[in-house]
Amino acid sequence: SGTLKDTFKGNFTIGTAINADQIRERDPVCGKIITDNFDAVTPENIMKAEVIHPEWDRYDFSLSDKLVDYAKKHNLEVNGHTLIWHSQLPSFVRRMKDADSVRQYFTNHIKTVASRYDGKLESWDVVNEALEEDGSMRRSIFLEKLGDNFVVEAFKLARQASPNTKLYYNDYNIEEPAKRAGAIRLIKKIQAAGVHIDGVGIQGHWNINHIPLKHIEDAITEFSALGIKVAFTELDLSVLPSPPNATGADVNQNVQYDAKLNPYTEGLPDSVQQKLTDGYASLFRLFLKHSDKIGRITMWGVHDGQSWLNNWPVMGRTNYPLLFDRQLKPKPAFYQVLKIKENY
Ligand code: G3I
Repeated sequence: SGTLKDTFKGNFTIGTAINADQIRERDPVCGKIITDNFDAVTPENIMKAEVIHPEWDRYDFSLSDKLVDYAKKHNLEVNGHTLIWHSQLPSFVRRMKDADSVRQYFTNHIKTVASRYDGKLESWDVVNEALEEDGSMRRSIFLEKLGDNFVVEAFKLARQASPNTKLYYNDYNIEEPAKRAGAIRLIKKIQAAGVHIDGVGIQGHWNINHIPLKHIEDAITEFSALGIKVAFTELDLSVLPSPPNATGADVNQNVQYDAKLNPYTEGLPDSVQQKLTDGYASLFRLFLKHSDKIGRITMWGVHDGQSWLNNWPVMGRTNYPLLFDRQLKPKPAFYQVLKIKENY
């Protein structure tokens, strides 16, 4: 009966990541879920550099323009993802050896892409994942060739090219204390340089067995104290173990990851389904408690069949991390999340 966006109206924007098939409106059932439940969309892949800027002197905006048109038609805001990221770079950039070429790419890419969509996007993840787990700057091509001021420079260029779009720093695990401290240093550095930043995106790739609520709450409070908005930009809850030291997701250090690679191909046992439901409930309770500081909650995909977690850390898993199942039915977690608000 209820929908996500109606239920949380006035609290925060509710978004989802989408892909090319979804903007082509191939599946009417999925299409209706998107327009009924979400206020906002993030391109899961199609605004990344490797898609939008395949060659030095060639941009390909065909899919990203389509996405913007689709969003306009359905009254959805668009959260752009992402201008500067060390991963999914076009091969011409990955091959670059000299700093001048990297700088030229960096400047042209931000200027061209950000100015094209100025005012058409609600926000940009200007820089994605620039930090190591210990809070130091990630050893990437941008750090190596441009030096550690590249994040400040990216925000400055993005602001010039796109003054009417909100600018975010986006990363995973920045709720964890050491990495959080690094993110705070980075944001303070941007602000100290007199450069505009609107918010920070906590990606929110967690595991049903490890949802760091206390750290998440501390992160919301500390980021917000910097005078910026907090968004949860890529929310999902894996039900499968991840290998030790894997980046981007859970920290189940002791699981036998090979043995448990794909244990739920026949469907999710009730006990695991319940854990997923409880996990989402505890998160949305926390989000509501801090809704004055949080602008948006975006799910990293509409339904389980779409999730990147079926292909990470290896291909061909069967994961169940989202609020809609493979048959596009709302899961118990979906109804519980609505209930949290109704009883809040
Ligand atoms: O489109 C091609 C297809 O033509 C080809 O046949 C197939 C074979 O591998 O690959 C397809 O591309 C894949 C693409 O997803 C679309 O499915 C890429 O290989 C694959 O690497 C890519 O994965 C994406 C990943 O970022 C890349 O790093 C995931 O969908 C996407 O969910 C994930 O999103 C990231 C965020 O951007 C940043 N935060 C972490 C998050 C999860 O990793």
